[in-house]
Amino acid sequence: MGEIRAESFGRRSTRAWHSIEERIVEIEREVFGDDAFSADELRAAFTGRQRLAVLLWDGDVLIGYTQAGQARARGTYYIANTAIAKSYQGRGLIRLLMERLYADVRAVGARFIERDAAIANGYADKIVRFHSADIITTRDHDSPYGRQRFIRMRVPEA
Ligand SMILES: CC(C)(COP(=O)(O)OP(=O)(O)OC[C@H]1O[C@@H](n2cnc3c(N)ncnc32)[C@H](O)[C@@H]1OP(=O)(O)O)[C@@H](O)C(=O)NCCC(=O)NCCS
Repeated sequence: MGEIRAESFGRRSTRAWHSIEERIVEIEREVFGDDAFSADELRAAFTGRQRLAVLLWDGDVLIGYTQAGQARARGTYYIANTAIAKSYQGRGLIRLLMERLYADVRAVGARFIERDAAIANGYADKIVRFHSADIITTRDHDSPYGRQRFIRMRVPEA
């Protein structure tokens, strides 16, 4: 394993979408199977205006990503898609990825995050527990992907 680090991806990034597309699509399929976004959908999500994305690297191997876009509510970003390659899951690497995203959200002047998280695998509970000081509201709801928890929270301080 090389040095694991999170890196912002965006218009100021030196990395071009075409250099990461294949690997992003691969992780997306590995993690989400039949529910995976297509290459076109991912490109739009990662490269569209006012989108924020963070890449997680092990040396020069891309191992995960998270991506957010502006929500309807003022000063709010919605976290749309987060994935870590299977062999890297369960090591707490999500924290590194999200801290970089939160810093980028703060840098564009937004103060709130919204997201939906799966309930069945315990992920929603983990997010709410970890961010308990910043949670504003939660609401459980049904979705085609199983029961989800909608979460609105303040962007955590650095
Ligand atoms: C969900 C996923 C991103 C989590 O990443 P991970 O690095 O495997 O997470 P881990 O289980 O190692 O670490 C989670 C820990 O980080 C902590 N944590 C820190 N910041 C967190 C954050 N922003 N969000 C969630 N957990 C966070 C949690 O408290 C949890 O602690 P605990 O397990 O000791 O209670 C990853 O497993 C994955 O890609 N899964 C498949 C795709 C998926 O479900 N995506 C999310 C859709 S809602």
